[in-house]
Amino acid sequence: MTSVLRLENITKSFADERGNRQLVLPGVSMNVEAGEIVWLRGESGSGKSTILNISGLLSTPDTGRVWIDGDDRTNASPRTASLVRSIEIGMVFQSSNLLPELTAMENVLLASRESTTRAAMIEQLERFGLAAVADRQAKRLSGGQQQRVAFCRALINRPSLLLADEPSSGLDRANTEVILDAMRTGANSGCGVLVASHDEVFQQVAHRQLPMKELLLEQK
Ligand SMILES: Nc1ncnc2c1ncn2[C@@H]1O[C@H](COP(=O)(O)OP(=O)(O)OP(=O)(O)O)[C@@H](O)[C@H]1O
Ligand SMILES: [Mg+2]
Repeated sequence: MTSVLRLENITKSFADERGNRQLVLPGVSMNVEAGEIVWLRGESGSGKSTILNISGLLSTPDTGRVWIDGDDRTNASPRTASLVRSIEIGMVFQSSNLLPELTAMENVLLASRESTTRAAMIEQLERFGLAAVADRQAKRLSGGQQQRVAFCRALINRPSLLLADEPSSGLDRANTEVILDAMRTGANSGCGVLVASHDEVFQQVAHRQLPMKELLLEQK
């Protein structure tokens, strides 16, 4: 098995409003293999987003190491981190983070590293039921449609690792099914998926659950 994400003894603390350090991650280790869907579950404030942000090289741990696709990226420069994100990592957040003035297709195109044709783009968008709204500005799409564009964008470069933070929040059943399918499809083609959520629906697709409680306890 190939590890697409390996976190080794990650610690992370934040200063609270009084300037006291709050230890959020006391030395967390975990692994996501290629083709595997791992569901990170736990209460609000338990550190799920912190783990995803560190895994996506958007935040650096205080100590510990971050391996992406076999490479130690702990001390990656902002430039390298950005390159690794665009090639090896797809990210989806609770809010879709699309550029509101751009169309659905333009949002995906902007992330794409390969030159492509309109027909090929339509085909990619249609995998998420979005062909009909390909030329609509993101700000004119529904929340569910926006989230589906975000998934299309995250998977367009066939990343080794997909990080999804509360991707189903605000979505109805039908839209949630579309993103569950997107995760399955990604995993079937070898992408390792780490999804953080308290939505029990991820039980349907997860190969493995990682309760934050256990993850934090193990380190003590
Ligand atoms: N940038 C920051 N500055 C200060 N404290 C932070 C920061 N980011 C996170 N924290 C704190 O770290 C803890 C974990 O936050 P995190 O966002 O990782 O939780 P979560 O499990 O994702 O919660 P939720 O389910 O509500 O999204 C919280 O106590 C939070 O207040
Ligand atoms: Mg969170």
